[in-house]
Amino acid sequence: MNIGIIGSGTMGIGIAQVAATSGCEVFLYDANSVQTEKSLLNLQNTLNKLVAKQKISIEKSEEIFNKIKFCTELNDLKDCDLIIEAIIESKEIKTEVFKKLEEIVSENCVISSNTSSISITSLSAELKKPKRFIGIHFFNPAPLMPLVEIIPGLLTEKKLAREMYTLMESWGKVPVIAKDVPGFIVNRIARPFYGEALRIAEENIATPEQIDDAMRNLGNFKMGPFELMDLIGIDINFSVTKTVYQDYFYDPKYKPSLLQQRMSEAKLLGRKTGKGFYDYAENSEKPAPEKNEELYNTIFMRIISMLVNEAVEAKRLGIANDEDLELAMQKGVNYPKGLLAWGFEIGYAKISETLQNLYTEYQEERYRQSPLLRKM
Ligand SMILES: NC(=O)c1ccc[n+]([C@@H]2O[C@H](COP(=O)([O-])OP(=O)(O)OC[C@H]3O[C@@H](n4cnc5c(N)ncnc54)[C@H](O)[C@@H]3O)[C@@H](O)[C@H]2O)c1
Repeated sequence: MNIGIIGSGTMGIGIAQVAATSGCEVFLYDANSVQTEKSLLNLQNTLNKLVAKQKISIEKSEEIFNKIKFCTELNDLKDCDLIIEAIIESKEIKTEVFKKLEEIVSENCVISSNTSSISITSLSAELKKPKRFIGIHFFNPAPLMPLVEIIPGLLTEKKLAREMYTLMESWGKVPVIAKDVPGFIVNRIARPFYGEALRIAEENIATPEQIDDAMRNLGNFKMGPFELMDLIGIDINFSVTKTVYQDYFYDPKYKPSLLQQRMSEAKLLGRKTGKGFYDYAENSEKPAPEKNEELYNTIFMRIISMLVNEAVEAKRLGIANDEDLELAMQKGVNYPKGLLAWGFEIGYAKISETLQNLYTEYQEERYRQSPLLRKM
């Protein structure tokens, strides 16, 4: 298959590596050719490391690299069977590119977007042939994270989601099919992992190091919420939260955090700026959390109950089937268990009681339960 990739930044080059590894011819185009050169150099280094670790042979690494053609014009993508767009997150700029693309590619070419937050239906509605448009959402880093969310919009041809599902499986990915809702599956369900943690810190109930410690120890999460926000970039995480909040018509469940806003304003963005919730300067030491069993239980139950409630609500709304909901959180953000199974293990009655207590205490819509939760 000929795969066209538009945008050679973080995601584009990663997706190019995935497609080339499974034997596709890849046509990689970016408006900024300097970026493509830089990304190809990085890819070469990545492949060299894989060879050094004996994960792939030299021949395979050459084969992968040679399958990626550096394109200087959009027109070079004219013979592609599938285009995956991974450019800047702007509806206007993406739409402009899709309109140009429609004039270039064949009738049968599938056009897709790797957007994290823009509605697939709204992007497709601008096209002459919206039937062939679909969301194919990879996770960062694309070669390592198994999950791919396939998102048909309202105007997408029915069979296309299954076709893309099969293709992603053949690329060694774990695909799931999601409804075109803000945040799709993962970025919607995971919101309270950050949001409730920020709220607990804002209310001076616990410090970021205590919250991280509680979630790692009691929940077996690989990273705590603050460590993860520092890795993702506090500005990026804040912007996803704002988009989900706005796109759900300001549902108070997703209300962003003032603390996160102040951190973004101060450019305390996490690892990339050397300081976020933690200090990454050389010789700096991470503060040791003051352990407190009762507090840790409260933190864990509050965050996990919010997460399970989100998963149950996603189930109720049919955002994906149960199996895909469970897979998505494990394969897209490394959760140790699926949230529906986790809710069952803790006891849905206990999850419901925790949320009810929070609702009674705060009198806020934020803690409202999914109507399905009490029936589970
Ligand atoms: N970074 C992530 O963690 C992540 C994860 C999943 C999805 N996404 C989505 O993937 C897309 C790309 O994100 P990224 O992090 O790779 O961005 P990036 O900034 O690393 O790369 C974007 C690239 O697009 C190029 N570009 C911009 N406008 C263009 C145009 N008109 N034509 C051609 N190229 C153009 C830029 O030169 C840049 O190289 C976004 O839609 C983002 O929401 C990002």
